[in-house]
Amino acid sequence: MIKPYNTSSTKKEEIGEMFDKIAPKYDFLNKILSMNIDRIWRKKVRRLLSKKGHHNNILDIATGTGDLAIELSKLSSKRIVGLDLSANMLEIAKQKVLKLNLDSRIIFTQGDAENMRFADSEFDTITVAFGVRNFENIYKGLSEIYRVLMPTGNLVILELTQPKNLLVYKLYCLYFQRILPRIGKFYSKDYAAYKYLPASVKNFSTKIDFVETLKKIGFTKISCYNLSMGIATIYFCEKF
Ligand SMILES: C[S@@+](CC[C@H](N)C(=O)[O-])C[C@H]1O[C@@H](n2cnc3c(N)ncnc32)[C@H](O)[C@@H]1O
Repeated sequence: MIKPYNTSSTKKEEIGEMFDKIAPKYDFLNKILSMNIDRIWRKKVRRLLSKKGHHNNILDIATGTGDLAIELSKLSSKRIVGLDLSANMLEIAKQKVLKLNLDSRIIFTQGDAENMRFADSEFDTITVAFGVRNFENIYKGLSEIYRVLMPTGNLVILELTQPKNLLVYKLYCLYFQRILPRIGKFYSKDYAAYKYLPASVKNFSTKIDFVETLKKIGFTKISCYNLSMGIATIYFCEKF
């Protein structure tokens, strides 16, 4: 199993610890490492959802510092819940939402996607941005998502993936494996965290047939959208 620190702790414990550590620098590093493209990807998630029915009750899993939850507030949903393991990431999310006067519509709660306190079918829409590859047990996490999603509800997953074009892949490897961990280390002082990032993307892209996994759990009408030459993918699905 790919873990950030390779200690005797579980992957979940290490992930929580890692995001607690890098939380103060997370937004800044996201911006420079992705050259702000991550914002465009989150907007694309919102646009895709806006074409599909109503989204009154949204759960944003692995919400981190809340950027997708904030983007989704433009859908005029009544309630958005952001869930995350890391208290420090959520603290930053809460401060942002307060500043934007969105605190009556967006609430944050600490918790584990693989074991959620929510009722069956509680949400009509669920999103996860850059979160599933960090789950300890991806099957368990997706099954929990299936349980708390309403029938006919939408699940949208945005995840980093590996590009298929050889030339793009080579450039991608150079950046992700050589340059990005060094920039990440310089600013966050956590080399392991930014070494874990490309390793976890590689593991997710090559070891897991994600669409097959989604189908096995019961999701239907799965559409995949390649973003930025395959560096990221949106998986848009429905619960039967
Ligand atoms: C790369 S960040 C993504 C944050 C945010 N979605 C974004 O778009 O920037 C991944 C987040 O997933 C959270 N996470 C990982 N595993 C989780 C789990 N099992 N349950 C809840 N959150 C989890 C981490 O704490 C972290 O904040």
